[in-house]
Amino acid sequence: MSRYWSRIVHELTPYVPGEQPQIENLVKLNTNENPYGPSPRAIEAMQQELGASLRLYPDPESVQLKKAIADFHQIDSEQVFVGNGSDEVLAHTFMGLLNHEAPLLFPDITYSFYPVYCGLYEIEYQQIPLTDEFAIDINDYSIDNGGIIFPNPNAPTGRLLALTEIENLLRRNTESVVVVDEAYIDFGGESAVSLINKYPNLLVTQTVSKSRSLAGIRVGYAMGNPELIEALVRVKDSFNSYPLDRLAIAGATAAFEDVDYFESTCGKVIASRDMLAAELESLGFQLIPSAANFLFAMPPRMPAQQVAEALREHGVIVRYFNKPRIDQYLRITIGTDAQNQALLEALRSIL
Ligand SMILES: Cc1ncc(COP(=O)(O)O)c(C=O)c1O
Repeated sequence: MSRYWSRIVHELTPYVPGEQPQIENLVKLNTNENPYGPSPRAIEAMQQELGASLRLYPDPESVQLKKAIADFHQIDSEQVFVGNGSDEVLAHTFMGLLNHEAPLLFPDITYSFYPVYCGLYEIEYQQIPLTDEFAIDINDYSIDNGGIIFPNPNAPTGRLLALTEIENLLRRNTESVVVVDEAYIDFGGESAVSLINKYPNLLVTQTVSKSRSLAGIRVGYAMGNPELIEALVRVKDSFNSYPLDRLAIAGATAAFEDVDYFESTCGKVIASRDMLAAELESLGFQLIPSAANFLFAMPPRMPAQQVAEALREHGVIVRYFNKPRIDQYLRITIGTDAQNQALLEALRSIL
């Protein structure tokens, strides 16, 4: 607290990111990073960019990257907005598209940055409880609203909402923007981007942090009707004209072009997830079906928090949320096969 702070800063409850400990040989399964490295073509592109050109500002519009994203998704560049991680894209979305008279709707159990953006931009919101099975029931969203946002698959549950349900929601909700945050869609879901030409109020956000293994360069993007994209550009150009640096633009562009590498690493993560899920179930864990690169799992016999602490002593870190409804669960990122085996061995000795 300081008398120099603005009123809004006094009132903020900032987001707390997952830990990034500087400890060697840790099995780090707490922040949903991809266990495999980025595409070698992305690394090469960034290395080539390292040079005298760094003297110059990057392209403020990231034209080359937007084209690569548009080509990958078979849409037009004017339907794409890029930002410094999807967190920044989401922040601009909250400010530019979701700040209205009626409350913004999102699930009670969801990405915990959403209420933080509401605090920052003073947006009223209403949390809609997930069902007992931790599913989104779109019938619960048929109420007056200034916008709707949810991740698909949801975080931290990993549960997927079928595309047909998203379309049902869009059919009913035409007067406000619906944002589908697809940070994890490449691990088993069907993207709602196929619906953006049909529904002018649909915005889909994605990131290179998870399925393209580039969390370190901070690139996220949104896809939707050019009118929605224009709102985001207006916010961006009132905040930071150059959110993406030259290395990020080069690396992310090459990552979108390397489709084979992307598909093969996603495939490996999905296969490991299904294997790990079966092993955890055989240890007595209860799992929510996951379409993401993590599992949301309730351990048997011991409180989840205690299991998380014991795992840490074994050099394995997972994410624990001390929050209502989910305080008996652990969110476990899918690692390499060796990391997943280390997790299982530690669990066998703990439980
Ligand atoms: C649901 C969801 N959306 C968005 C993000 C932000 O991703 P990034 O800012 O790395 O693109 C995350 C990160 O964990 C997430 O879980």
